[in-house]
Amino acid sequence: MKLTIIGTGYVGLVTGTCFAEVGHRVICVDNDAAKVKMLQSGGIPIYEPGLEELVKKNVAAGRLSFSNSTAEGVANSDVVFIAVPTPPQADGSVDMSFIERVARDIAGAMTEYKIIVDKSTVPVQTGEKVAETIKRYCKNQVECDVVSNPEFLREGFAVEDLMKPDRIVVGVRTQRPVSVMKEIYAPFNAPIIVTDINSAELIKHASNSFLALKISYINAVSIICEATGANVQEVANGMGMDERIGRRFLNASLGFGGSCFPKDLSAFIKIAEELRYDFGLLKEVQRINASQMDRFLKKIVDTLWVLKGKTIGVLGLAFKQNTDDVRTSPAIELCQRLQKEGAALRVHDPKAMEKAKPLLPGVTCIDDMNDVAEGCDALVIATEWEEFKKLDLERARKHLSHPILFDGRNLFDPKEMEKLGFIYKSIGR
Ligand SMILES: NC(=O)c1ccc[n+]([C@@H]2O[C@H](COP(=O)([O-])OP(=O)(O)OC[C@H]3O[C@@H](n4cnc5c(N)ncnc54)[C@H](O)[C@@H]3O)[C@@H](O)[C@H]2O)c1
Repeated sequence: MKLTIIGTGYVGLVTGTCFAEVGHRVICVDNDAAKVKMLQSGGIPIYEPGLEELVKKNVAAGRLSFSNSTAEGVANSDVVFIAVPTPPQADGSVDMSFIERVARDIAGAMTEYKIIVDKSTVPVQTGEKVAETIKRYCKNQVECDVVSNPEFLREGFAVEDLMKPDRIVVGVRTQRPVSVMKEIYAPFNAPIIVTDINSAELIKHASNSFLALKISYINAVSIICEATGANVQEVANGMGMDERIGRRFLNASLGFGGSCFPKDLSAFIKIAEELRYDFGLLKEVQRINASQMDRFLKKIVDTLWVLKGKTIGVLGLAFKQNTDDVRTSPAIELCQRLQKEGAALRVHDPKAMEKAKPLLPGVTCIDDMNDVAEGCDALVIATEWEEFKKLDLERARKHLSHPILFDGRNLFDPKEMEKLGFIYKSIGR
């Protein structure tokens, strides 16, 4: 099929590439001219495992191309996906101006029937607004169907998640676009759930809020563990073996971040508020998450006392492993707060250093994780990169003025760390 994706970011680029990989012809459109130029000349603006090879392969096969013209994308495809940002506003509600802009651009370019699919995460009832906007701005008065098709990929595992999805949600107003949507997704061999548009939109916000809730739940349990000498990892393992609960998203940490959970939570709270429901449960999820960061920082200050004039090594800047994305990253917030306390920072991240630099003026970026501890008063683990588990601890211990390690991601075994001579502080253990 001939498909266009408007918005070539973490969702749009990976979705477009995976559609091309299963045989569709895809145009990825973006209004960021520099990004399109980079993609057209073989560069990849984001890091996702496996993405670069897949982009190159599908460009070479002639199934994937890039453009900065929405009109060109609309003219050359049957189905147009929207994957532009839906960022939060100061009051927590969603800034819908990107979606509205794209709806108008698509409407202006339509000369025949199209299926318009929203993949961005949007408040319930957005589909109706998009359909209304397209109708209003389509000079040629041609028909279209608006579909909601929320995306559930995890950054850092985006290619894997797109190629092997748990489920595909397709929200429609009429049955007309259903067979085409099923044809697009047939090669992925995943269950397809067809719902009304409002339900599809709600599935996304309800899912992300639930996952955030699960993380805050285990973080709250970690506080009880710390107060009683229990081990939150053992508690999570025991809980997770219950099929009704499941082990995933039960890792205690310094809190969640990223471009999705914090904004989707606040959006869902705001949506509920507008519908005159006080979603207090989700406000508590936010509160617990913020307090995890405060508690972690307090551990550092209580141990090191005055941070002014001290140097701290920080491993991890991305909001999670396997990505270069630093949007609303807890690691970045932690660095900024340590800097505010007067600490000098030596930082390392396997992929996110370039994107983090503008957010952290004054830090020293270190290329090799094993050099970070040099001249530091303590080390901090802020992102759960697998490779940090292979840190040369003996070397780190020798480099540190005193062997102190704060682990915000529970990567090491407390007993082992003690044996190696570290003062080791983690979460809920
Ligand atoms: N990142 C994730 O893990 C994830 C997962 C599921 C859903 N989502 C949702 O998907 C949407 C996109 O997220 P993202 O992380 O890919 O964002 P992103 O910022 O990485 O990418 C969005 C892209 O859209 C482009 N854009 C903005 N306005 C445009 C316009 N008028 N015309 C053409 N291009 C335009 C931007 O230049 C950018 O490249 C959001 O609603 C997000 O909530 C994100």
